[in-house]
Amino acid sequence: MDKDEQVRQIKKLLHRLDSGTNVDAGELFENPTNTYVDPILADQEREVFFKRTPQLVGLSGDLPQINSFLTINDLGTPVLAVRDRDGIFRAFVNSCRHRGVIVEQRDRGEARRFTCQFHRWTYDSEGTLVGLPKQEHFGEVDMNELGLLELPSLEKYGMLWVHPDPTGEINLKELLTQELLDELSLWNLGELEYLGNDVYDIACNWKLAMDTFGETYHFSSLHETTLYNAFHGNVQCYDTFGNNHRMLLCRRDIDDMRQLPESEWDITIATLPVYWLFPNVQLMPSQEGLYLLRAYPDPKEPGQHRSLINFYLRPEISANDEMRQMFTMISHVFAQVIRDEDYAVSASQQVTANSQTLKSVVFGRNEPALHHYHSTYKRVLESAK
Ligand code: FES
Ligand SMILES: [Fe+2]
Repeated sequence: MDKDEQVRQIKKLLHRLDSGTNVDAGELFENPTNTYVDPILADQEREVFFKRTPQLVGLSGDLPQINSFLTINDLGTPVLAVRDRDGIFRAFVNSCRHRGVIVEQRDRGEARRFTCQFHRWTYDSEGTLVGLPKQEHFGEVDMNELGLLELPSLEKYGMLWVHPDPTGEINLKELLTQELLDELSLWNLGELEYLGNDVYDIACNWKLAMDTFGETYHFSSLHETTLYNAFHGNVQCYDTFGNNHRMLLCRRDIDDMRQLPESEWDITIATLPVYWLFPNVQLMPSQEGLYLLRAYPDPKEPGQHRSLINFYLRPEISANDEMRQMFTMISHVFAQVIRDEDYAVSASQQVTANSQTLKSVVFGRNEPALHHYHSTYKRVLESAK
């Protein structure tokens, strides 16, 4: 975020704090609860949002060097992402061309070759089939034709994008808008180092998990003894970028800005920026690093989802062992708050949605991100029909 925008947003927040006001959507929004349970909708979502749409699979730091790899198992299509011998980010369907066994089983690591456990067909980091045992018995095949199926991939602004459809295209400007890309580029995401992750399987629809990020109205109640110590509740800034949006959660340290000249104001001291990349990604940059949270629907059960929370650090912090340890601990605690507080209420919302006794719930004027998210969700699904 550029300096002028930082100052503008901090001023807005200070004004809201002083005047006891918050962002205002201008009206209430009624949201049908069947959006969290309907199996037909769930099928459409997986098709439209997770098979036909480019996916953010990580940051450049997830593939720190030549021959780093990463597997992604929550998109329907199994994906193997690699940094090849020329340092180029590439992605493949992680399925052996012999009889379809998943080739690389590990989550991440380093490898020059990928060998399928079934009959040891072996592929290199360009996806080329370089080993086929007992070819004289197997029969004549053109090994050049049997490499791993390549997927469209793009590394830009420190983000790793993959299209799960081999014929798909990745157009970041169309997905995120140029304005948001320009802003994300200022966070130097490409410098961040991967620190670790947490994975949570939770009995709630993936959109209920996303919804918990849509407001700070709940900070003084649900997070009374945790996040509320560090954040003001029910006050935020909110802006949209096409289907996506940005929230600025108000840290209590914003008060320090009052003593400082504007030239020293810093958005990461005053706020926690939360970029909600439609439909299932939250990017939260801070002074020390970044949290990347992604929610994926269960392939069968609409009332179940998986959240992946990745932690990253700025290199100067990562270089210091003590700091690294401290931020590992802080990151896990942060993720546990999401699991034990936010996702606990998400799971109870799911029980209500499952019962279908409440046909709808209501989003307040102070919850504009939820208005925008759910109306965008409906519009995009409708237009994909
Ligand atoms: S299925 Fe992979 S080597 Fe046979
Ligand atoms: Fe929360």
